[in-house]
Amino acid sequence: MSPAISASRVASLVGDFDRSPAYAGLADSLRLLIGDGRIALDTRLPSERELTEALGLSRTTVARAYADLRDRGFAESRRGAGSFARIPGGARSVLDRTLTPRTGDPHLIDLNCAAASAPPGVAAAYDAALAALPAYLSGHGYYPAGVPELQQAIAATYEARGLATTPDQILVTPGALSAAAIVALGLTSAGDRVVVENPVYPNATEALAHHGARLVAAPVDPGGWDLEAIGAVVRQAAPRLAYLIPDFQNPTGHLMSEAQREEYAAMLGRSRTIAVVDEAHQALGLEGQRMPPPFAALGRDTITIGSASKTFWGGLRLGWIRAPERHLAALMRARLSIDLGAPVLEQLVLTRLLEEPDATLAAQRARLRTQRDALVTALRTSLPDWSFQTPGGGLALWCHLPRPLASATAAEAERRGVIVSPGHVFAVDGGHEHFVRIPWTRPAEELEQAALVLAEAWQAAVASPRQASRSRITVA
Ligand SMILES: Cc1ncc(COP(=O)(O)O)c(C=O)c1O
Repeated sequence: MSPAISASRVASLVGDFDRSPAYAGLADSLRLLIGDGRIALDTRLPSERELTEALGLSRTTVARAYADLRDRGFAESRRGAGSFARIPGGARSVLDRTLTPRTGDPHLIDLNCAAASAPPGVAAAYDAALAALPAYLSGHGYYPAGVPELQQAIAATYEARGLATTPDQILVTPGALSAAAIVALGLTSAGDRVVVENPVYPNATEALAHHGARLVAAPVDPGGWDLEAIGAVVRQAAPRLAYLIPDFQNPTGHLMSEAQREEYAAMLGRSRTIAVVDEAHQALGLEGQRMPPPFAALGRDTITIGSASKTFWGGLRLGWIRAPERHLAALMRARLSIDLGAPVLEQLVLTRLLEEPDATLAAQRARLRTQRDALVTALRTSLPDWSFQTPGGGLALWCHLPRPLASATAAEAERRGVIVSPGHVFAVDGGHEHFVRIPWTRPAEELEQAALVLAEAWQAAVASPRQASRSRITVA
C-alpha cells in the first residue's frame, strides 16, 4: 500500500509559498517537495477538500495546483483512489554514476553527497532569470569575469560581512571546485608546497595538486585546529599556498574562532603563504549565530573561494573567487586556459537569489536544522557507541567509531542500500579508518532509516570485518 501524507503535514511543508498566483505557488512548492523527497515518490496526497481546509485556500486554487502537478508529471490521480506523488522519469534520474554507485536502485539512500536539494525560491529565481535573459541575448554571452550584476551581488555579500570588496575582485566560476583548480593553475608551479587540512574535502586537494604541487598535511583534530602543530608544519614547509575551510570544515564540521583566524592569518603572513579559504559552507550557520569575520579581513594575502552549491543548489554549478588586486591577472590567465565563463542564465538566477536571499536561506537553514537534529537523535539511539560533536552548521557529522572499521561498515551499508563515505576518503595520506562522514542532507525519514541500516552494517562489520569493495569513492 502507498504511504499517505496528511493535509496538515503538507501545509507545514509548503509553508509560506508565493501567492501570485496562489495555485502556481502551491504547485511549485509541491513539485519541489516531491522532487527532493520530502514528499516521497508514490505517496498518496491529501484530497483537494482536505488540503483546501488545511491551507485556507479556495477549492479552485487547490484543484488548479493539482491539475498543474498532473500536467507536469508530478502527480497522478486515480479515480476512487486519490492523487499520488510522481516524478517524471522516475526517481533514479536524480543520481549520477560518478557520485553514486547503483544509480538504478530507486530505494538507495545516498549519503555520499553532502549536498541538499534546492530549497523553495530557487525555481522562482529561475523564472525571474528567464524573464531577464532576453536583455542579454543581443550580446555575445561571454563573461569570463562574470555577469557584472552577479559580480556586484557577490561583492555586496562581502561588504555586508565587513570586508570591503569591489566587483572587479570577483571572478565567477563554474563552482568552488573549479575555483580551486584555477587558483592552483594560476598560482602554483610544479614542486611548490601546498598546505592542506587533514582530513579535508578531497576533490579540492586533488585540484590543488594537479599541476605538480606537493601537498603537506596539517592536522585538524576531532577537537578542532591545533594551531601549534599547524604552525610547525607551515614553518617547515614554507608553502606557497595554504588551503583551509574555516566555516564548518568538511568533513569535521568545525568552525574556526575569530582568535584562531587571527593567529592563523598572522602565521601565514610570516611565511609569505597565500591563504586559499574555501567558504562553501559559510552561510550555513544553523543556530542563528554571529559568524566570525571572513579570513580575508584578517589576512591580507587571502584568496577566498565561494560557492552557490550548498547555500542554494549544486545544480547551479556556480562558484567564485574573491582575490586581492595583485593576483587577478594571473587568475584570469589561468581561467582563460580552462573556459570562457559560466552560463549566463544560471548567473542571473544566482544574482536574483543573492539580491533577496532571506526567505530562501531561512528555508534552507530550517530544513537542514531539522534534518541535523533528526540524524543526531537517530544515531544516538541506533549507534550509542559512535561519538561525534554536533556542529552548529554545515552539512555533516564526522562520526568516530570505536574500532577502525569505517570502510567495512560503509561496504556493509552499501550492500543494504545506504551509501556513506568512510574516513579514508578525506585523508590526505591514508588513515581515518575510525571515522565515517554522514551528511544530514536528505529528508529526516531517510536519515532515520539510514541510521538503522548503519547499525546493522556496523554489527556485521564488527562480526566479520572485510575489505571494502569500492576502490575509488568520489564525494561531494
Ligand atoms: C569545502 C567544499 N568546497 C567546495 C565544494 C564544491 O563546491 P562546488 O559545487 O561549488 O564546486 C564542496 C562540496 O562538497 C565542499 O564541501
